[in-house]
Amino acid sequence: MPDTSGATRRAQDLANRVFDAALGTFDVFAIYVGDRLSYYQILGEHGPMTTSELAEMAGTEERYTREWLEQQAVSGFVYVAEMSDDGRSRRFALPPEYASVLTDELSLSYLAPLARMIATAGMKLSAVVEAHRNGGGVSWDEFGADMRESQADMNRPSFMKLLAQEWFGSVPDLADRLTSGARVADIGCGFGWSSISLAVGYDRVTVDGYDLDEPSIDYARIHAVEAGVDDRVTFHALDAGDPSVQGDYDVVAAFECIHDMPDPVATLTSMRRIAADDGYVVVMDEKVSEAFHPDAGEIEQLMYGFSNFICLPDGMAHLHSAGTGTVMRPDTLRRYASEAGFSDVEVMPIETEMWRFYRLV
Ligand SMILES: C[S@@+](CC[C@H](N)C(=O)[O-])C[C@H]1O[C@@H](n2cnc3c(N)ncnc32)[C@H](O)[C@@H]1O
Repeated sequence: MPDTSGATRRAQDLANRVFDAALGTFDVFAIYVGDRLSYYQILGEHGPMTTSELAEMAGTEERYTREWLEQQAVSGFVYVAEMSDDGRSRRFALPPEYASVLTDELSLSYLAPLARMIATAGMKLSAVVEAHRNGGGVSWDEFGADMRESQADMNRPSFMKLLAQEWFGSVPDLADRLTSGARVADIGCGFGWSSISLAVGYDRVTVDGYDLDEPSIDYARIHAVEAGVDDRVTFHALDAGDPSVQGDYDVVAAFECIHDMPDPVATLTSMRRIAADDGYVVVMDEKVSEAFHPDAGEIEQLMYGFSNFICLPDGMAHLHSAGTGTVMRPDTLRRYASEAGFSDVEVMPIETEMWRFYRLV
């Protein structure tokens, strides 16, 4: 007799997992709504509120706000501070400790942008299905404002709090160059937080940030002014492979962008060209396993999620794409680097959960 009881249990486990995933997906949608409408921020600042008070302050329809608050209460994101049988008289509040995850933009636990990014990716699922059938993809531009903003918001806390001192500061050769006033190129700089972090952390550093996405560069320029480093940080709306990208930089870095590029070799070739003879070339990319393995764990599951629904469709939206995807293994980068004329790729001694830092020699 076949072992039907084991098969039945495994099917039940899978059914439970799909059910939990459905609840998690609704949490993600609800965080997206709460984040975009500033519900969490208002609740955090104004304490226990009725549905009408929150709706009035957020400028939203009370009926929708009430349904959202009730969903948030049954899901454990907010609590009922004052119970009432009349739904309009109940008061809801955000636990103060949740602010670090939902509203504090500089907290290392800030994860509202992760939910926003995944919800935004969900909006393009039909285009991804179409791309599976007929090729092509969904470009960064097509993903739109929500995607570029959530990308920037997600990396901002670790760039602003860890990149300059803790990460680069722990590599003596790199830290010495930055301290003595390096010229830095930040390739695929997005909203500019990595460039700004280095300028804030090292007061003799000058940075040129390059990104082909013009709205990102517009934001980056505003951020540099707000951070008071616009005299030392300049942003350029340019493709990294553009011949007009010139320089003799002491440090050339590309943070979480090489795997997105349809032609990573062209970008790496450009990075090698603009680096000074003893220039330090750094690529920060996802810390995926060395080789494919089905039991690789949760970080790899997350990376395959980003890859299937964001990075691979983005890269594949361009003709003749390398089709890298988020799961860019070290050997893949080594091959790209070799094709770009580098002789070696070293993994740098910077330990993080999410990132691997490579020095291209
Ligand atoms: C995933 S985002 C990372 C942005 C930023 N480095 C960060 O860590 O938040 C990838 C960025 O690479 C940029 N990009 C893609 N291809 C590029 C190219 N060929 N030249 C310059 N920037 C490029 C995109 O516009 C986007 O801003």
